Amino acid sequence: MNKTLIRDALVVLPSGPQVTSVLIEGRRIAAIDPALHTHADEVVSAAGLWLLPGVIDDQVHFREPGLTHKEDLATASRACAKGGVTTYLEMPNTKPTTTTVERLAEKLALAATKSLVNFGFYIGATPDNVAELKAAQRTPGIKIFIGSSTGDLLVDSQEALERIFAETTLPITAHCEDESIVRANAARFAGVNDPAVHSRIRDHEAAMVATRRALDLAFRHRHRFHVLHVSTAAEAELLADHRGLITGEACPHHLFFSVDDYARLGTLIQMNPSIKTRADNEALWRALLEGRLQVVATDHAPHTLEEKAKPYPSSPSGLPAVENSLALMIDQVQRGRCSLAQVVSWMCDAPARVWDLVGKGRIELGYDADLVLVDPHKTAVVRNAEQETKCKWSPWDGVELTGWPVRTWVLGREVFRDGRINTEVRGEEALFDHARGGFWATA
Ligand code: DOR
Repeated sequence: MNKTLIRDALVVLPSGPQVTSVLIEGRRIAAIDPALHTHADEVVSAAGLWLLPGVIDDQVHFREPGLTHKEDLATASRACAKGGVTTYLEMPNTKPTTTTVERLAEKLALAATKSLVNFGFYIGATPDNVAELKAAQRTPGIKIFIGSSTGDLLVDSQEALERIFAETTLPITAHCEDESIVRANAARFAGVNDPAVHSRIRDHEAAMVATRRALDLAFRHRHRFHVLHVSTAAEAELLADHRGLITGEACPHHLFFSVDDYARLGTLIQMNPSIKTRADNEALWRALLEGRLQVVATDHAPHTLEEKAKPYPSSPSGLPAVENSLALMIDQVQRGRCSLAQVVSWMCDAPARVWDLVGKGRIELGYDADLVLVDPHKTAVVRNAEQETKCKWSPWDGVELTGWPVRTWVLGREVFRDGRINTEVRGEEALFDHARGGFWATA
């Protein structure tokens, strides 16, 4: 079995960061010991570098099948490898949508041939596919668009929502923006082409009303529920009352961009839920630091620059982020805003626990050797031309960040090293053990 010894890195263990050595044997972590001097096929001298569990991004849109002019599983997973993301959980708003067990199996089979990193796919809810949602097994959970976004998935009727929460057992997650509020606001601002109006159409109230509605469903039906892309201070407050059922997540664009950035970035930061105010940015950071939000994930949602250049509101919502999210967060560690252990908790351990992932999210004996080595002092500027994502742009173009992934391993195989991607590597289908009961049951 192939052995790789990573020596003397600052390794982020479940107990905290510690300088030690890690032995990879085959696809697993076989030993963790500062005095390791065993024979290995490769020895990596990692003094001064940080070794983290590979990032688990539980919210991405990789566009295959059907929208592959924007992205596909090969380009997206290359971006993951570069960004230190070793497992992704992908959303069902592809073409066709992932709303049946059969389509889920098709996506899994496609990813097995194309994806350089590990993968999982949500099954999407429709107003009348409860039988499929009940039959689905190889999935992290059910995604509901309680408000519509890119694509035509939408479950807005109370009756259909009640049925889904009552009759299914898989964990549920949702896009929470209230459809009727958004439509009324859109009518009010019809004809306005300034992209900044997007945040007045998809306003604070739309997000809050839908999140409150989803939490009410989850509490009454005692159903596990994960709130995606929390964008407002008020929602973050609500999530303090989790009752062992609720978890929530923040995305880099809601942590780093505010309505003040529309003047500079225009439709590039047009997102659903919309970008909010600086006060919301600060409140989301506080909620992460205080544990009211548990996960940081990207909502990587690529569109071409040509599509983004259409005048608002013809321009689509969404931005790519998967290859820069870890660097964005490590840069914040270097600026003193949060700790390395917190970043690992938000991006690796917590998503693994929320979705009951088997063998992932930690550097621990017997766990999968999904690892990322970070050079904490490497400084680089994000450049559109250097992006692996097929859409070839980033809203962080021109931004200098300190602390970058330099090597990534997926199941013990090196998939990224110093700017080069090994396109021979393939990830595997992630396994979910939902009997574990999610984040709070494993706290
Ligand atoms: O802005 C967004 N774009 N939000 C979503 O929820 C979907 C995504 C997309 O798929 O483009």
